[in-house]
Amino acid sequence: MPLHRLASIAIGVPHPDAVRPFYVELGLVETRPGVFETAGGGEQLRIERAARRSLLALTIAVDDADDLARAAAALARLGVVAESSERALECREPATGVRVRLAVEPRLVQKPAPLLATNAPGRTRRVDARSPAALPTEPARPRRLAHAVIGSPDAAASRRFFVEGIGFRVSDEAPAIGATFMRCSTDHHNLLVQAAPVSFLHHTAWEMDDVDAVGRAAAAMLAADPSRHVWGLGRHGIGSNYFWYLRDPAGNFAEYSSDVDVIVDDAAWRAAASSGAHPLAAWGPPVPKEFLAPDDIVALARGGA
Ligand SMILES: [Fe+2]
Repeated sequence: MPLHRLASIAIGVPHPDAVRPFYVELGLVETRPGVFETAGGGEQLRIERAARRSLLALTIAVDDADDLARAAAALARLGVVAESSERALECREPATGVRVRLAVEPRLVQKPAPLLATNAPGRTRRVDARSPAALPTEPARPRRLAHAVIGSPDAAASRRFFVEGIGFRVSDEAPAIGATFMRCSTDHHNLLVQAAPVSFLHHTAWEMDDVDAVGRAAAAMLAADPSRHVWGLGRHGIGSNYFWYLRDPAGNFAEYSSDVDVIVDDAAWRAAASSGAHPLAAWGPPVPKEFLAPDDIVALARGGA
């Protein structure tokens, strides 16, 4: 696959100064005003001023100039105009207005997460010792940007752009919510586009080492402000990842995620429709209405904040 990772995103919000501290608390490091770094993925988030909350831009890393040329030709076939240089290609997704940049960048090599010694019936891996997960520790930090989920007023056109134009692969579909799970790496999904009355950012997701890291980080966020809670802890049916969703001060959801499915062979992968996977969660608290339709969606559709 010529695309190899979701490198970074830019989010627009009406009041960046009110939102930036949230992402520092989430565990990102603000390297300069409005630019945030993960523990292992470099600068992966930019927060900019915009009339309403939205996803402004995505950068996707590719291996070389040939990958850029292939995407430029595919986009031209769809009638999308792109600006190309030797190292990058830039265009705009027509249905949502999101700026999409393909950039030649090295592949990310992640330092393996420490393997926790666990006990289970018939399998004892930890004796005479407390689990480190039960001891006080530094708050867990996101290792990298995992995925973004956007609403599109023309989800079919957005899907066509990302799959036929940019080169994303489709991992799964959830027709009940008009959603397509797409990847630009071996992660089950790096981008999900779902049908919506207006273009908006549903959530960003941040990869954590394991479920304990998800739980510890979310608990620390809620200890500081319980009203941030949206949905969690649970495990998704599509993608299999553990999740816990929080709300930033602008209304965007941010997900701590771990243990997502990895796909390296399309032929070996069984789509959710044929494997019985639940479209939302294998387990977890009941899904809140807000998750399916954010409280501000009507205002966003009317053009308000
Ligand atoms: Fe997610």
